[in-house]
Amino acid sequence: MYLPRLTSVLTLALAAVGQDVSTRAVEKAFFAANLPANLSIVFKPTALLEVAFPQATGPPIVLHAGIHVPRNGTAGPPTFHVVGDVGPGPFVVATVDPDAPTPQDPTSAQIRHFLGGNFFNHGSLLVNNTPAVSNFLQPTPPAGSPAHRYTFLLFHQSPEFATQMFVDSATSVANFNISLFASEVDLGNPIAGTFMLVAPEPTT
Ligand SMILES: *[C@@H]1O[C@H](CO)[C@@H](O)[C@H](O)[C@H]1NC(C)=O
Ligand SMILES: *[C@@H]1O[C@H](CO)[C@@H](O)[C@H](O)[C@H]1NC(C)=O
Ligand SMILES: *[C@@H]1O[C@H](CO)[C@@H](O)[C@H](O)[C@H]1NC(C)=O
Repeated sequence: MYLPRLTSVLTLALAAVGQDVSTRAVEKAFFAANLPANLSIVFKPTALLEVAFPQATGPPIVLHAGIHVPRNGTAGPPTFHVVGDVGPGPFVVATVDPDAPTPQDPTSAQIRHFLGGNFFNHGSLLVNNTPAVSNFLQPTPPAGSPAHRYTFLLFHQSPEFATQMFVDSATSVANFNISLFASEVDLGNPIAGTFMLVAPEPTT
C-alpha cells in the first residue's frame, strides 16, 4: 500500500545525491530557473560540469543543477570535473550569483564567486596550476533573502583570456557581468554548467 510513496521518496533521495547526468536535463533546469535570461547567456551545454564541495567529514557534496546545499557545506573551494568530448583545454570556469543581495532586487548582481583559467582536462579532472583571477568566495546570502542561484559555467579559454585587463584580483566582485566579460575576452558561449541554491544559514 505504501510502496508508491516509498519509491518516490527513494527516487528523490537518489536524485539528491547524484551529479548531473544529462546535458538536456541541465539545460532544462537552467531554463526553468530563468538563468539564461538573467545571465544574458546562450546556454546549449555539450558537456557536463561536475562541481564537488569537500566536507570536513564524509563524502563531498556533488552538485546537480538546482540542488539545495546548506551554506555550511559550501566553504569549498570546489573541485571540477568535465564529462564530455571537450578536448584537453585550456578552459575557464566562472561562478556567479545573479541574486545579490536578493533575487527580487539584485542591485549588486552579479557577484563574481570564482573566475579562473588555465584549467586542463586530466582524465576528466580539471586541473589548473596558475592563480585564479578571483578565488572562490563562499556563498553568503543575507539573512531574510530567499536562496540564491550560484551558477558555475565552463568555457573554452580564448587566447585573449591570458592577457585580459578587464578583471583582476583587485576588481570588485560586485556588479560583474559574465556575458559581457565573455564577449570582451571572446570566450563564446558556455559549454557546460550547473547551479546550486543556497539559502542564508538558519539563525537560532
Ligand atoms: C530573471 O528573469 C525572470 C524572467 O524573465 C524575471 O522575472 C526576473 O526578474 C529575473 N531575475 C533576475 C534576478 O534578473
Ligand atoms: C551544517 O549544519 C547542520 C545543521 O546544523 C549540521 O547537521 C551539519 O553537520 C553541518 N555541516 C557542516 C559541514 O558543518
Ligand atoms: C550584461 O551584459 C550584456 C551584454 O553582454 C547585457 O545585455 C546585459 O544587460 C548585462 N546585464 C546586466 C545585469 O547589466
